[in-house]
Amino acid sequence: MRSIVDITDLSKEEIQELIDTALDMIEHPAKYARACEGKKLATLFFEPSTRTRMSFEAAMYELGGHVLTMSDPATSSVSKGETVGDTVRVVSNYADIIAMRHPKEGAAYAAIRKSTVPVINAGDGGHCHPTQTTADLLTIYREKGRFDGLTVGMCGDLKNGRTVHSLVNALARYDNVKFVFISPEELRMPRYVIENALASGNAVCEEVSSLEDNIGKLDILYMTRIQRERFDSPEEYERLKDSYVLDARKMALAKPDCRVLHPLPRVNEISVEVDDDPRAVYFEQTRNGKYMRMALMLKLLEEARKDPAKWETHSPAAAKDLKCRNPRCICAFENGIEHVFTEDPKNPGHFLCAYCETPAE
Ligand code: CP
Repeated sequence: MRSIVDITDLSKEEIQELIDTALDMIEHPAKYARACEGKKLATLFFEPSTRTRMSFEAAMYELGGHVLTMSDPATSSVSKGETVGDTVRVVSNYADIIAMRHPKEGAAYAAIRKSTVPVINAGDGGHCHPTQTTADLLTIYREKGRFDGLTVGMCGDLKNGRTVHSLVNALARYDNVKFVFISPEELRMPRYVIENALASGNAVCEEVSSLEDNIGKLDILYMTRIQRERFDSPEEYERLKDSYVLDARKMALAKPDCRVLHPLPRVNEISVEVDDDPRAVYFEQTRNGKYMRMALMLKLLEEARKDPAKWETHSPAAAKDLKCRNPRCICAFENGIEHVFTEDPKNPGHFLCAYCETPAE
């Protein structure tokens, strides 16, 4: 039985398999209408969502299954102090598969450690958002027919944007991908994401500040929202919130075959006048997300049927005297959580928090 914390839990071959299944679902929906008959998806959303939760739910209905929802933690026993671990342990008695979103980094792995059914990370704080990445990948594939050799610009809040972290992890595995990270100094892409991309040996990364000066070289422009909810200081958010606005004037500088993606929701970083530009594909992207979630749930349920044994993403080392230094990690908040660490494959002898992947101290 397998769960998904990040996109790298799926190999390149498996991503292609999901894309092929999703394309077949788009072409032949009737073929899949009873594929999950009798199965139940639980959506546990400890943080707001429109697209991710509803597309997971629509996906399960289109596969002929049922849905149990917790969309507001205030109406569940979480409001009485129940932990993620206990919640998931209980819900895995009621559902065959769980999609969970939580504001704390590493919450997905905390859930997986307690679940007896597959768990899909639907976003854990600023850490990862793998199913958004599956939507992004299907969109790029449908628009470009390939991943190799693309120049991909990512613009906005690259520090807190879990969608861009997962997308870099995914695309860095293809050949000759060039990343152009466009952000203010304060919202740069985390070093560990860049180092992971460079360690793949396939990618080139450039960090810049100007969208106008760089838009003309992009095959893909991935815009992101400045994430107010991740700022510790409201003043800092106010100062940075209007850093980038993509409008018709800037689109005039983009290549004719450039494609603009955005995980949505947007605030003001893409002007509505861009919506009618044929190069804007962010609404198609939301539709693609439903098909990739259908394909992913089908795959994980089939794997769980064949091999119901519990799954671990890491082989965690004992805590010894190690400490996670990430103040936003789930292990800093939940009672009774076991502090576990895993050896950094790129830095032997050094350890990462098994939940949020931050280097331990
Ligand atoms: N892209 C995305 O995760 O949207 P929601 O927050 O609405 O789920």
